[in-house]
Amino acid sequence: MEKKNIDWANLGFSYVQTDKRYVSNYKDGAWDEGALISDATVAISECAGVLQYAQTCFEGLKAYTTEDGHIVTFRPDLNAARLHDSCERLEIPVFPEDRFVEAVSETVLANEAYVPPYGSGATLYIRPFIFGSSSVIGVAPADEYQFRVFTTPVGPYFKGGAKPLTIRVSDFDRAAPHGTGHIKAGLNYAMSLYAIVDAHHKGFDENMYLDPATRTKVEETGGANFLFVTKDGKVVTPKSGSILPSITRRSLVTVAKDYLGLEVEEREVLFDEVKDFAECGLCGTAAVISPVGKIVDHGNEICLPSGMTEMGPVTKKLYETLTGIQMGRIEAPKGWIHVIK
Ligand code: PLP
Ligand code: COI
Repeated sequence: MEKKNIDWANLGFSYVQTDKRYVSNYKDGAWDEGALISDATVAISECAGVLQYAQTCFEGLKAYTTEDGHIVTFRPDLNAARLHDSCERLEIPVFPEDRFVEAVSETVLANEAYVPPYGSGATLYIRPFIFGSSSVIGVAPADEYQFRVFTTPVGPYFKGGAKPLTIRVSDFDRAAPHGTGHIKAGLNYAMSLYAIVDAHHKGFDENMYLDPATRTKVEETGGANFLFVTKDGKVVTPKSGSILPSITRRSLVTVAKDYLGLEVEEREVLFDEVKDFAECGLCGTAAVISPVGKIVDHGNEICLPSGMTEMGPVTKKLYETLTGIQMGRIEAPKGWIHVIK
């Protein structure tokens, strides 16, 4: 199979249309058998649930070419389970988890020519999503839905790759206690757009959100969870009921403990503690682990000792071990790697 003529090393994180996408429609109380199609557009009622009341949720995962030439995904069962949780919270019918994993594999295989080669620095980003497709005008769940999976080859999420980021403490809240912060609902991202555009205008790469109830605890950013490293080498990651349960973060906790022998604390993290940490990173499928060099709280700068030129040493070890597992250079824990081909 011949790969597409793409400048893999210079891809950013933007949409490149690929050949095939998977579609299954829900009607009369059941999902149809689904199929791969070529049409990259969607035609729905102007009154569709997704357009009127944002009834939609999504997932994000990646396909990798491993060192020995296989195409794999990383823990897709956890994305399937998280989409299940998101659907339940949004009154969307659940797409069966085993079918989710199959649909992802089929879509990747159908777009094999777009799976970046091993060592190129790029990956194939996979975006499964579900939306209410039938009309609703009173506030209510739709009767019909579409589940869709598309793929797009991507490079680093943040421009500059592994260069440490500067983030700011946001004045806006991301998710209310008992709200929807723990699911991957489109609405969580719509409400973050104003804050991210404003952050970018002011020269910041991302927003650090604090807990809305007390504004004393670190939650997450618009698209990634936090990992901190203490001066004595412990990994600390915020625990909160209103952050997205990142699959990357959960995997890094295992990597830190079982591969690197580090102590890990998953607990509430006070913003006041941040000035004492040695390293900070943003972790997620898109972000992988992106190092943070500086955190600005209303003009008050916290400069992480790891600096603004390189990843801190612990962050780097975590990054290398995780990506080593994903690319097949390091043996993975059982069940983490799903071989597509
Ligand atoms: N937090 C938010 C708000 C996200 O959008 C994402 C991305 O999916 C993450 C965290 C990281 O989650 P994961 O590692 O499962 O991609
Ligand atoms: C991901 O990491 O997959 C996400 O969905 C984050 C998004 C902000 C691109």
